[in-house]
Amino acid sequence: MKIVVIGGSGLIGSKVVIKLREHGHEAIAASPSSGVNTLTGEGLAEALQGASVVVDVSNSPSFEDAAVLKFFETSTRNLLTYEADAGVGHHVALSVVGTERLSESGYFRAKIAQEQMIKNSAIPYSIVHATQFFEFLKSLADISFDGDKVRLPPVLFQPMAADDVASAVARIAVGPPVNGIVEIGGPEQFRLDELVQRRLAALKDPREVIADPNALYSGAKVSRRTLVPDNTAQLGETRFETWLIQSAAQIPSRKVS
Ligand SMILES: NC(=O)c1ccc[n+]([C@@H]2O[C@H](COP(=O)([O-])OP(=O)(O)OC[C@H]3O[C@@H](n4cnc5c(N)ncnc54)[C@H](OP(=O)(O)O)[C@@H]3O)[C@@H](O)[C@H]2O)c1
Repeated sequence: MKIVVIGGSGLIGSKVVIKLREHGHEAIAASPSSGVNTLTGEGLAEALQGASVVVDVSNSPSFEDAAVLKFFETSTRNLLTYEADAGVGHHVALSVVGTERLSESGYFRAKIAQEQMIKNSAIPYSIVHATQFFEFLKSLADISFDGDKVRLPPVLFQPMAADDVASAVARIAVGPPVNGIVEIGGPEQFRLDELVQRRLAALKDPREVIADPNALYSGAKVSRRTLVPDNTAQLGETRFETWLIQSAAQIPSRKVS
């Protein structure tokens, strides 16, 4: 089966491409760095020729409210139009658990718009709602840092390894369209502020994390269960401690020159 992975050079996309190829599929990594741009349409018709499935794991280069909305609206509109012309039978998109509860955030308003366009189109689809990636914890600390402390709300959090996200996306891509949302999450629940503190400690980052019930998540007020999936979610197998050990082993040793 020919499967085009939009954002195939990214964190999740590159892993999805490898997993699909391991299962014998013709997986095409498509993104601006390989001449395919969903904002301009460049290279899209050629890439989609003969494709059965399109997996969209792209992300906006800018997270500024207007820019991210423009990215997901334009790119999703173009993709769905070119997919209809090419006869693609399954559109798979990666989004985030709780997206519909996070409309105070500009980033999540853009993801809501993306999902709505997919639901309104005639192309059969599967929307994968993943929890946050372990790989994203450091960035979360960075965006929640006020110059003195990292401030995060003490809410439930159930992140997962990017590798498990990619396995689930690849599995869903080769299955029948669900024409709905599939939730995936990590195998364990934590408190958001405590887990980010553990990640920073593992990185020997001295910043202190403060549990602040009024702190926003990506610009949105969250409550205890906003970020966690239902108990029907499919769970990844990688535990946080295992991932920490694996990711520490992968950090290249400092070059001596
Ligand atoms: N961060 C989280 O914890 C989390 C949780 C759940 C879901 N998600 C979702 O996961 C998705 C993927 O995230 P990621 O971290 O894997 O992304 P990423 O590593 O930042 O990769 C982004 C990809 O988008 C591509 N791209 C950018 N502009 C494009 C354009 N105009 N046309 C086509 N492709 C374009 C990039 O291509 P180039 O390399 O060629 O520029 C790159 O391949 C996002 O949609 C995000 O909402 C994230």
